[in-house]
Amino acid sequence: MKHIILFASGSGTNVENIVKYFEGHSAIAVSCVFTNKRDAFVIDRCNAMGVPAFSFNGPAFKNGSILLQILKNLKPDLIVLAGFLRKIPSEMVADFPEKIINIHPALLPKYGGKGMYGKHVHREVKANKEKESGITVHYVNDHYDEGAIIEQRSVSIASSDSEDEIARKVQELEHLHYPRIIEAVLTEN
Ligand code: GAR
Repeated sequence: MKHIILFASGSGTNVENIVKYFEGHSAIAVSCVFTNKRDAFVIDRCNAMGVPAFSFNGPAFKNGSILLQILKNLKPDLIVLAGFLRKIPSEMVADFPEKIINIHPALLPKYGGKGMYGKHVHREVKANKEKESGITVHYVNDHYDEGAIIEQRSVSIASSDSEDEIARKVQELEHLHYPRIIEAVLTEN
């Protein structure tokens, strides 16, 4: 069995979708979820699904911390960021080469970088009158949203689409594709 650890910061719709996708899977299992926000709704979702969830604070998530040691001891086959908004410490990137992946709610390299997450991305996409947006799944390196791209999917944006409508379209793509891409990464490596 290969095992995945998920990281999330917010509502956790992607976490819930990924957990459900791998329930009963013959080769891949979600071990647990880590969050940097102790009141994040993702914890309620984990409680409802019976998935172990752990929250940690700022000092726990830096080079040399006990959390990074714990992660190493857990030996995950893949660490999956699903709406996780903190930068990954360089030591963790080095400990897990090509074993941390992220989903970004836009077509990178557009609309990536520090501060570009969630609704901020969709606001910029709308402001720039983009005709399409989408999702990018990529490996995590030392720079925000700059790791090698694994897969992108796009969706058309109408000029009448609100930011919320763009967010809804992008979230639909995330839920449709992220679990399958995770599965492919684990199967190919
Ligand atoms: C998702 O849209 C994900 O792409 C985005 O946060 C959202 C989390 O939603 N991640 C980023 O913006 C990372 N830069 P969720 O909590 O409902 O899964």
